[in-house]
Amino acid sequence: MSNDAIVMLKDDHKEILAAFKKFEAAGDGAHKTKGALVDRIIELLTVHTYIENEIMYPRVRELVPELEDDVLESYEEHHVADVLVMELSAMAPEDERFTAKATVLIENVRHHIEEEEDEWFPKVREALGRTVLQEIGEAMQESRKTAPRRPSQPGALKKTIDAVIS
Ligand SMILES: [Fe+2]
Ligand SMILES: [Fe+2]
Repeated sequence: MSNDAIVMLKDDHKEILAAFKKFEAAGDGAHKTKGALVDRIIELLTVHTYIENEIMYPRVRELVPELEDDVLESYEEHHVADVLVMELSAMAPEDERFTAKATVLIENVRHHIEEEEDEWFPKVREALGRTVLQEIGEAMQESRKTAPRRPSQPGALKKTIDAVIS
């Protein structure tokens, strides 16, 4: 397994996008399947945004100041996803708004992942190079061990807010 920060985050993205596809492929009445998939999506997103908020974004902000606007926009996109995730986690799959809300979450996160992968991660790679990206990757691996897995866990929402206002 690579310890390059960007490779690691892209692997997470693949897993997240695969879960999105499965959700979209589930039938209208497949409440149980959809509920389980949304649980999985919530866990993947909670861990992923946590390690980006805690490690990747602050390091990029510090080391590549010209990408500050991209990082700030990304924090806001995480915040929108956090709100939807919080709401979804409190909702039953039978709720008439469940699929609609999950669909909006999926659309938002797909757009966010595209921006990371196409617009600013390549610039981060160019600016930081392999050694620094490996250091960041190792720090993310450490952070992943204690990352919250549910939005209700301490650290999930509060960390996002702290990261935005500090
Ligand atoms: Fe992100
Ligand atoms: Fe990401």
